[in-house]
Amino acid sequence: MAFVSRPVDRLNGLLLAPGDKSCSHRALMFGGLAEGRTEVRFLLEGEDVLRTGDAMRALGASITRVKPGHWQIDGLGSRPAASGISLDFGNSGTGSRLMAGLCAGLGVEARFDGDTSLRSRPMGRVLDPLRKMGARFEASDGDRLPLTIRGGHALSGITYAPPVASAQVKSSVLLAGLNAGGRTTVRELHKTRPHTETMLSAFGVSTTSRSDGSNWVVEIEGGQTLSSPGGVDVPGDPSSAAFLIAAGLIAPGGDVHVEGVMDNPTRDGIFRTIEDMATLSIKGTVMMGGETCHTYSATGGQTLKAVSPPHSRVSTMIDEFPIFAVLAAFATGETVISGAEELRVKESDRIAATVNLLRVNGVEVEERPDGMVIQGCAGPVPGGGLVEARHDHRIAMSALVMGVGAKAPVAVDDVSMIATSYPDFFNHMRKLGADISESSA
Ligand code: S3P
Repeated sequence: MAFVSRPVDRLNGLLLAPGDKSCSHRALMFGGLAEGRTEVRFLLEGEDVLRTGDAMRALGASITRVKPGHWQIDGLGSRPAASGISLDFGNSGTGSRLMAGLCAGLGVEARFDGDTSLRSRPMGRVLDPLRKMGARFEASDGDRLPLTIRGGHALSGITYAPPVASAQVKSSVLLAGLNAGGRTTVRELHKTRPHTETMLSAFGVSTTSRSDGSNWVVEIEGGQTLSSPGGVDVPGDPSSAAFLIAAGLIAPGGDVHVEGVMDNPTRDGIFRTIEDMATLSIKGTVMMGGETCHTYSATGGQTLKAVSPPHSRVSTMIDEFPIFAVLAAFATGETVISGAEELRVKESDRIAATVNLLRVNGVEVEERPDGMVIQGCAGPVPGGGLVEARHDHRIAMSALVMGVGAKAPVAVDDVSMIATSYPDFFNHMRKLGADISESSA
């Protein structure tokens, strides 16, 4: 269904960031594996996360919603996991890739499938190392979904250096390593988000992480079991908060505050970049789920300066490039995005989809194999375009945010995917004063 976002004079308000998607997936997985009961609070109730909950239920965990954001999990503990199951991961790369490692380690037989977007995404990046550990898969051409994990194969630990910086790959291998013989080592060129390691430790599983000078090395010993810590609080999602902060910056006036935003150095690239472009206030530290969280505040009507993120920052803002490109379009000067070829295999080809988003709204942009070059409009972009969401929640949200500060309304052809990661997006944007409604066009 098409939606349109119309320009407004100001956005104002204070919102609590929704629960982090990465941490929410892991809370359901680890609670579902653990001995004992886990109470999860502030869980993101997005479709991607709920699919992971369904998958853990299919394996035999009991998972119930007590009230909004509060879930109770009675994990498998020492009970055997169900085998011969069929799992649908919808749009979720994280759910499917992490669960591939988890199921391979448990030795269960499982069929994995997903939506059109997920079926087109590469799974070889996790199947390759899992096969090296001894897992057997039957996958569609080019190692894509649908695929079947053949159960009953004992795994052995390996040392693996992923060719791409990916927390999903690292996590998948570590979760298989949990039930493999011996030690499993992942050597990363750049340290990726450590939520698997951090949360496993809360569940009594030890991993070690260190830099050896050129690599970030994470190790896990096989044969460890999870025991529930009792409760898990999910910190606020910096990736979702970035949409609200960007909206606050491009609105002509007003003040937007977002509280409870996780400030982890592997996730904060968008905020470090925004600090170089404009004034961003960061206050009020609280701890949630072992993570430092802050309140971010953005004032509208600022002049934004064009900033080209260094390559070393790319993995720390990998999910934020569509909304960053929107900010760059309002900035003064040229922005070069490079070293970001991973964007080609996200929920959509995010380089092509973002270039299209900008172009149909009158912004000059050149597509490059590993990014794009954006000529900032030094203020409001023309707008007036109809953006193709291409099954990608972040493209749809970026388009609607752009409309807040554009000269003419911005429309998007499909908003259904927004519910995969940010079901409260419309509610939150309207609370701030955005004018977003179904389009009659
Ligand atoms: C995620 C890792 C990242 C990120 C995704 C969530 C995770 O993917 O883009 O949204 O929770 O581990 P990659 O591992 O492909 O970089």
